[in-house]
Amino acid sequence: MHSRTLYLFSSAAPPVFDVARVIEEAQADGWDVCLGLTPTAARWLAHSLDGLAALTGHPVRWDYSLPGEPAVWPEADAVVVAPATFDTVNQWALGLTGKWLVGVVAEGIGKGLPMAVMPCVNSAYVAHPQFERSIETLRGAGVRVVYGEGGFVPHEPGLGNPETYPWRAALDAVADVAGRGLPPVG
Ligand SMILES: Cc1cc2nc3c(=O)[nH]c(=O)nc-3n(C[C@H](O)[C@H](O)[C@H](O)COP(=O)(O)O)c2cc1C
Repeated sequence: MHSRTLYLFSSAAPPVFDVARVIEEAQADGWDVCLGLTPTAARWLAHSLDGLAALTGHPVRWDYSLPGEPAVWPEADAVVVAPATFDTVNQWALGLTGKWLVGVVAEGIGKGLPMAVMPCVNSAYVAHPQFERSIETLRGAGVRVVYGEGGFVPHEPGLGNPETYPWRAALDAVADVAGRGLPPVG
């Protein structure tokens, strides 16, 4: 059976170190996973990039391709952005596409691509006035934001525990938004 393609996009917050396990979980859900990173996350995972490419069966991407370079990934059926840093959430909401990964999801809004995002931010970042605006902007654009009860809840600065980052909620959310676009079975 042809599996559907999930772009898993991760930025530079500590839960990104669990991405191999999350890829396997998404694959067990039936997704063909393509891993995209921010340049900083790619630096954090520099020693794992070959293994992650082997695990997904696709090159790991973190930068824009050059003009004329062929596409290396299948088309996405859905995208999940997690962990999403303060920087990545705000850039996406503000349409600042210097990072390749943000460029893809910024266009994804216009393309009607099913997308979910789960931030990873502490309570000090959340107190910045732009953060709530960004969350509202993304929700208003049709992105499923897994934030608050049942999703990611901000921690005090310095007290984040990557082991409790609720990855399952992000995978469930993207499966849900992707499923909305499908015709009913039968
Ligand atoms: C050890 C460490 C932990 C960090 N944790 C977070 C975090 O949980 N959330 C966040 O928004 N930024 C965090 N940052 C800051 C981001 O890594 C930084 O803003 C970076 O520029 C994010 O870029 P990216 O969104 O392009 O990956 C952390 C930085 C370091 C060095």
